[in-house]
Amino acid sequence: MTTLLQRDRPAAPELQDIRIHAFDKAPLGAEVLGLDLARPLADSDFRRIHQAHLKHHVLVFREQRITPAQQVAFSRRFGPLQIHVLHQFQLPGHPEVLVVSNVIDENGKPIGLGDAGVYWHSDLSYKDRPSLGSMLHAQELPAEGGDTLFANMHLAWETLPEALRRAVEGLRAEHSYLCKYEELRQRSPWRPKLSEAQIAEVKPVIQPVVRTHPETGRKALFVSEHFTTRIVGLPEAESRELLAQLFAHSVRPEHLYRHVWQPQDMVFWDNRSLMHLATGFPPEMRRRLNRTTIEGDAPF
Ligand code: SIN
Repeated sequence: MTTLLQRDRPAAPELQDIRIHAFDKAPLGAEVLGLDLARPLADSDFRRIHQAHLKHHVLVFREQRITPAQQVAFSRRFGPLQIHVLHQFQLPGHPEVLVVSNVIDENGKPIGLGDAGVYWHSDLSYKDRPSLGSMLHAQELPAEGGDTLFANMHLAWETLPEALRRAVEGLRAEHSYLCKYEELRQRSPWRPKLSEAQIAEVKPVIQPVVRTHPETGRKALFVSEHFTTRIVGLPEAESRELLAQLFAHSVRPEHLYRHVWQPQDMVFWDNRSLMHLATGFPPEMRRRLNRTTIEGDAPF
């Protein structure tokens, strides 16, 4: 006999026919087919995706016809969301969504961050609690270019020459949102001047140069040309030289996966394992994507 309690309990979501295929000949990344994020996601399907994310570092969910609210809800299953300091580029009605776009609206105002990712970086490494991972959902893609590159920072650490490993293990580095900000503003005059309140939101932080992934225990290099300003305790020239060597090694071709976007792709990457770079596209073309960013742990 069905009790009142059983009758009122919502039915558990149905399992979906999810297939996960690692990318051939790439040092990271997998494609996820058969998943519809517009439908309720069963806990066991969520756990499969979580495990695949830890294993492959980049998951490409194909053909996601989802709303910004659905992207936000799915992202929140991994942790609290972070609001980007450039509040100007929030998607209206969705402060958790940063618009990544070069599109200018009918009033001549940019609708999003047009030059996001032009330097290699890990999202929000300039915060005490940098991002666990980010999700980028394609809304409008250029006919040419616009790819995103990802670098496997575990491999970067594991293949670092022994002398360099010894030189950097235990070191710490400063990360600052302001590192390249003025240089980018010179190139992209639409970039807003930061207010005092925004500058106060992004005070420089000190992070380990080699971090340990909090879920897998794997070590990864954690410095980037976009946000790392200096290695703590080293003379300026020595710090600059060491960082240049680490940056160059991190992005060797064998550490990279190039994502060529397809319509409705949603890409979910692990900022604790990777850096990424937007490769650019002809400026007369339009590109628009919605980004959510999940908060991670303080690096150790
Ligand atoms: C980003 O750095 O979050 C944007 C990457 C891209 O636009 O490809």
